[in-house]
Amino acid sequence: MLSTLRFEPIQEAHIPAILAIEGRTNTAPWSERSFRNELDHPHGIFLVAILSGEVIGYGGIWLVIDEAHVTTIAVAQEHQRKGIGEKLMVELLRRGQEKGMLCSTLEVRAGNDPAIKLYEKLGFTISARRKGYYPDNREDAIVMWLYDLEHWEPPRA
Ligand SMILES: CC(C)(COP(=O)(O)OP(=O)(O)OC[C@H]1O[C@@H](n2cnc3c(N)ncnc32)[C@H](O)[C@@H]1OP(=O)(O)O)[C@@H](O)C(=O)NCCC(=O)NCCS
Repeated sequence: MLSTLRFEPIQEAHIPAILAIEGRTNTAPWSERSFRNELDHPHGIFLVAILSGEVIGYGGIWLVIDEAHVTTIAVAQEHQRKGIGEKLMVELLRRGQEKGMLCSTLEVRAGNDPAIKLYEKLGFTISARRKGYYPDNREDAIVMWLYDLEHWEPPRA
């Protein structure tokens, strides 16, 4: 089934499906404009995951000097826990490596255990906590780093 999974750069036609997933998976959803900014972002890589022709996930990084900053990732609820989020992150980090990024960082809600577990599995470690970082509910952010992206290898299946 997952053999038909592929990743491709975001296109205009993906945006309605992205917004539908975003509305169901993110408590503070990105606006349409935010996704549109990723269409031709000069220092970003934004990929959608497509399964049997349907957009089922997406994620992005910004290339900041030598840091791959993970901006967002989501998988449609009905497709979660099938390894798709991990494959998407691996693809993003691989492409970041190819662009010469040496490390990667991200912020995640302190209560988002699935995402924190995913990032830890990929080799990110918790480095800081930002109190009340998220404006919608004042939830803390956990700052995570993958310090050596240059020599990073994805986890073995
Ligand atoms: C976080 C998210 C992208 C994970 O995607 P996914 O496709 O379900 O994750 P995968 O099936 O690839 O899981 C990979 C690893 O992540 C961790 N993980 C994922 N979901 C988990 C859960 N519900 N509970 C515990 N660990 C979880 C596990 O370590 C898992 O490895 P394992 O299968 O060997 O145990 C998904 O839960 C999601 O879209 N959440 C809503 C949006 C969001 O919170 N994004 C993160 C913003 S920072």
